[in-house]
Amino acid sequence: MKAIVLTFSALMLCMLMAWRWPASETTGMDKQGASTWTLTKDKAVNEVLLRLGDEPLPHPVDTNMKWVSARAGEELVKYGFGRGPGGFKTSRQSKHFVCTSCHNLEKEDPDLSVSDPQARLLYVKDNGLPFLQGTSLYGAVNRTQFYNGDYRKKYGDLVNAAQNDIREAIQLCAEECAQGRRLRDWEVESILAYFWELGLKMDDLILSDPEWQEVENALNGNGDQEGVVRMIKRRYLAASPATFVTPPKDRKVGYELEGNVENGQLIYELSCLHCHENGRYAFYRLDDSKFSFKHLDRHFSRYTRYSVYQVARYGTSPLNGKRAYMPNYTLEKMSNQQMEDLRAYVKQMRK
Ligand code: HEC
Ligand code: HEC
Repeated sequence: MKAIVLTFSALMLCMLMAWRWPASETTGMDKQGASTWTLTKDKAVNEVLLRLGDEPLPHPVDTNMKWVSARAGEELVKYGFGRGPGGFKTSRQSKHFVCTSCHNLEKEDPDLSVSDPQARLLYVKDNGLPFLQGTSLYGAVNRTQFYNGDYRKKYGDLVNAAQNDIREAIQLCAEECAQGRRLRDWEVESILAYFWELGLKMDDLILSDPEWQEVENALNGNGDQEGVVRMIKRRYLAASPATFVTPPKDRKVGYELEGNVENGQLIYELSCLHCHENGRYAFYRLDDSKFSFKHLDRHFSRYTRYSVYQVARYGTSPLNGKRAYMPNYTLEKMSNQQMEDLRAYVKQMRK
């Protein structure tokens, strides 16, 4: 009996702690009412913008909703299940994927104001991250538009609800990208609570010393606050661009660019193997064997389901309902040059 009571209270304690909503804005005032808030590199960009008088972001967390916690959201994103009422595990969201199959949770671009796949490739390499088709969920709360550009073509009307609404974007991805079950309301809210922890920090923006000074001045009520808000917002993308492209017209000739073997190796290891090594998120297996490289090289220029041009540019479709499929790489996620780099690497490795 004693053990049960103990376990029970420990559980309650854990839940209470998990419920504590951490993003509540500090007032920045001490007991005497003097300001204690100072601008530091680890301050949330959102908080600074609010202090400069900017409109709040349109997706605050509904902290009154039952069972909502950032920790449950984190578990859903990383492992595919959450902890609901009483700490019970929910059913897996998707049989095939977790969110991190296709999205990073860390900063993945050295300069957040541009979406440049080559700069990203080198950056993720240096930071031990994979190179993926989805945009990082780091900074997702700082965005206001989702499934941009050509994703409208892919998902059609489904995008209408999701383009201005992060909750709908999460739900769309759970069902369509991850090919899984619909999320319950508290699960969406928990994922959103977790996303708020992944908001951009001032240090992520590339501000020169004079610009930093300008921000400080504006925060102290000196200077052009609106101008500084605009300056800060130019340092990151509020919408991740997406351009769909086709395989080269002649797959034998390719994109007519000289491939760089070393760069190709990075793509193979940080991208293809992320999902295909030991069949991690796919049935089709790839590794560093001659067999893998021969197979890929043979099919590159063909019109088959194994052609890398084919699967990378068009993706594969989730046939017959809830199946694993490969998302396409937009031009922002893999350039034509990078595709040729990969081809050059595959060709060299088959020898
Ligand atoms: C199989 C790959 C895949 C999986 C799994 C996946 N996503 Fe996505 N997701 C994408 C792609 C591709 C996009 C297209 C837009 C982009 O990210 O650039 C996207 C878009 C999004 C967006 C909008 C991002 C933006 O800026 O436009 C959100 C939010 C999102 N996903 C959340 C999730 C969550 C939460 C999960 C897990 C429940 C998940 N995704 C699982 C591939 C995936
Ligand atoms: C986000 C995970 C993911 C990434 C990254 C990824 N793939 Fe895939 N790929 C899949 C899935 C899932 C399938 C669907 C078939 C399966 O499950 O094997 C697939 C299918 C394929 C196929 C067709 C296999 C068949 O049986 O029809 C090839 C070839 C392929 N991928 C090669 C690559 C190459 C090369 C890269 C790197 C440029 C890559 N993939 C990156 C997940 C991924």
